[in-house]
Amino acid sequence: MSGPLVQLLYLGAAICFVLGLKWLSSPATAVRGNRVSGFGMLMAVVITLLSEPAVSYTVIIAGVVVGGGLGLWMARAVKMTAMPQMVALLNGLGGGASLVVGSAEFMKSEMLGEHLLLDTSIALHIAVLIGGVTLTGSVIAFAKLQELMSGRAITFPLQKTLNAVLFLGAVTIAVFQVTQPESLLGPFLVLVGVALALGVLLVIPIGGADMPVVISLLNSYSGIAAAMTGFVIRNEVLIISGALVGSSGIILSQIMCKAMNRSLANVLFGAFGATVQISGKSAEGLTARQTSADDVAVQLAYAQSVIVVPGYGLAVAQAQHVLRELADLAEKKGVTVKYAIHPVAGRMPGHMNVLLAEANVPYDKLFDMDEINSEFERTDLVLVIGANDVVNPAARTDPSSPIYGMPILNVDYAKAVVVLKRGMGAGFAGIENELFFNPKTAMLFGDAKQSLTKLVAELKTL
Ligand code: TAP
Repeated sequence: MSGPLVQLLYLGAAICFVLGLKWLSSPATAVRGNRVSGFGMLMAVVITLLSEPAVSYTVIIAGVVVGGGLGLWMARAVKMTAMPQMVALLNGLGGGASLVVGSAEFMKSEMLGEHLLLDTSIALHIAVLIGGVTLTGSVIAFAKLQELMSGRAITFPLQKTLNAVLFLGAVTIAVFQVTQPESLLGPFLVLVGVALALGVLLVIPIGGADMPVVISLLNSYSGIAAAMTGFVIRNEVLIISGALVGSSGIILSQIMCKAMNRSLANVLFGAFGATVQISGKSAEGLTARQTSADDVAVQLAYAQSVIVVPGYGLAVAQAQHVLRELADLAEKKGVTVKYAIHPVAGRMPGHMNVLLAEANVPYDKLFDMDEINSEFERTDLVLVIGANDVVNPAARTDPSSPIYGMPILNVDYAKAVVVLKRGMGAGFAGIENELFFNPKTAMLFGDAKQSLTKLVAELKTL
């Protein structure tokens, strides 16, 4: 395939990526976005293979079969709640690929005695440094989320100083290599080692609680490393796709930090989770009012407006289908049902949207926090299902609370609230929730799926 045709087809693939990303930003178009960007990637791979004269198809086909088979198995086997660690692993492999390609190009130039061009050498050393950090950082993030190691922030004296020294050391080696007439193997190997060590050292002081943000950031790193690799091997579509991943990952990290009212620096260097979190306001002396499925069913049947607030517990219980059934029944009785989606409800971006889409909840019934917050005071009943931190009024009222300042769903403004959860367990932030002791609130204890199933049965009898 000739140069201009390849460039034109690469442009087509890049357009697919951009359109895919645009469509991925809304639940209504996300499936189309996924398919279009997947098609773009297939196009990019096929064009690259056809335009490279010296490829060994046996090795490539073997790689596609093994890698594709593993990917398919993982995508089917992994539970929705384990998706963040799977993404972590995939990011790590992306970073690792950049490290391997960069190293291979370096070795090739060494063996052939060729000098790397200045721009290639700069890109190569950046790709290797960031790729190495991404690889080991992602493995640590995976291990923390998979509970293969403690989720606690691991800290030790002079940790930040050590990290700074290693980082400056890596940059110094890279600058030395790039400015030398001939790059040397020894310093290159030291650079790889330092990059791999830095990945571990930068992620261990971050608590498991902040891993989703870290994963999103590592995703961004893997994109930057891939873009740099694109400069090394002179592949335009790799530069474009890497840049898209790099920028979207950093934007997502920022969105998540904003929704938790934390700065990125605080997530990365704050060692949140190094010690057990102190509870917010103590609940001593307060009692939560318990209710039963038949009472809630009556409340639901006679309400005009209901807002459902889904949270992590709904995902754990896999209760999305029975929730949809309940909402359908209530709607048949003339109740208006809406869903309020907090940006960090669950454990990963878009967790609740994906969950509800799985149960075919119509997209026009899902409302973002900013769209729906003003509606709570006019709402008869709010069903909080397996959510906790995202409805905790302490974020508004208690300056001593670790989540103070985090934007929340103002469910306590509604006329009545029913919370479905197993007990009085804390959420992700590990703090007490005064909503549960509000006179307007009643607690329906039990696994979310079981409670919703009982509610469906009761509602059918009314
Ligand atoms: P959480 O605050 O984590 O609360 C979930 C609640 O679900 C728990 O209190 C638990 O109480 C209950 N639960 C667990 N299993 C259940 C089951 N089978 N049936 C019924 N209830 C069950 O969830 P949230 O309100 O969705 O908030 C998300 C948290 O994750 C926030 O703190 C957020 O900052 C954090 N976070 C999210 C993200 C993203 S991007 N989504 C990223 C990083 C951090 P019981 O044990 O009493 O049942």
